[in-house]
Amino acid sequence: MKMKWRDGLFSAAGLLVFCAFCAAGATMASDVLVGACIYKFDDTFMKGVRRNMVSEMKKLGGELEVADSQNQQPVQDGQVGAFINKGAKALIVNLVNPVDRAVAASLLEKARAANLPIVFLNREPDAEVMKSYDKACYVGTHAEESGRLLGELIVDYFKGHPEADRNGDGKIQYVMLRGGEGQQDAILRTEFSVKAMKDGGFEVEELASETANWDKAQGAERMKGFIASVGLDRIEAVVANNDSMALGAIAALKAEGYNLGDAAKYIPVVGVDATAPALEAMGQGTLLGTVLNDARSQGAAAVRAAFAAAQGRAIDKETVGYEVTDGKYIWIPYMKVTTENFKRLM
Ligand code: BGC
Ligand code: CA
Repeated sequence: MKMKWRDGLFSAAGLLVFCAFCAAGATMASDVLVGACIYKFDDTFMKGVRRNMVSEMKKLGGELEVADSQNQQPVQDGQVGAFINKGAKALIVNLVNPVDRAVAASLLEKARAANLPIVFLNREPDAEVMKSYDKACYVGTHAEESGRLLGELIVDYFKGHPEADRNGDGKIQYVMLRGGEGQQDAILRTEFSVKAMKDGGFEVEELASETANWDKAQGAERMKGFIASVGLDRIEAVVANNDSMALGAIAALKAEGYNLGDAAKYIPVVGVDATAPALEAMGQGTLLGTVLNDARSQGAAAVRAAFAAAQGRAIDKETVGYEVTDGKYIWIPYMKVTTENFKRLM
């Protein structure tokens, strides 16, 4: 497109403002290095978040280095130290261990000592720890919301399919696959999914509940265990705290001839995240539904917050693109994913 003189004038003015900004001590985009740690690369959901972090930083023109903490907190502690030594201007941390509050506190102290902003992502640190540093912020979700939507998926199904109450006792006999022990997302998704089933007007009976650490292989193992201990014919629903574990459970069900297309041999399974393999499973009819855990928004918001703070700018709606609560919390909403809308996410 041809440039009009007016555009030229605007960009000249823009350049002037930009130079004044730089002279005032602000950091140029290309000088911003953000160091990020992901609790482990081998996590399907976090892979999506990471991909979006990288593409967001490309748009912003800064530099992003992402380290794999390999599910080991000491490894992560070392990576944060290394980023600081390297001259990173902001940190993003997806904690390996969000349960022990001392862990987040010690990383925050490292950031404070270097006067660096620190953005915690996806695994929420203790509120008191968050409060203790004005350059700490958190990007994540309200886990109770995903729990509620998870439970509603089961409620909606049972309302539309009376035969899903296989023993006809009016109760939902379910098994639960929980995420990492003691983690907010796992605790609240478990609690609120059960509450939603009850709020939906159903009595519930928990046949079994185990942690499978957000992991597909462990989900399959635990499901095999449930089948052996409580019996396949008694299970009326499988509620998993995330999609990876739900897909593990589906693999175990398939091995028993279930969820392969025969309506008489179908057990509804639900998860959270709306990962690509989960959406595929919905297309195949093996997964009943999921909850969109918005990897794109979480990745983008974390990078934008870190980038703005690295340049000494405020973390607010203007710089991050999302509402900021109490000056430090960026909450990304969830969405129910059903047969009606899942194709839009693929
Ligand atoms: C996701 C899980 C993921 C976990 C990592 C959760 O929000 O639902 O799939 O494993 O975050 O912390
Ligand atoms: Ca029943």
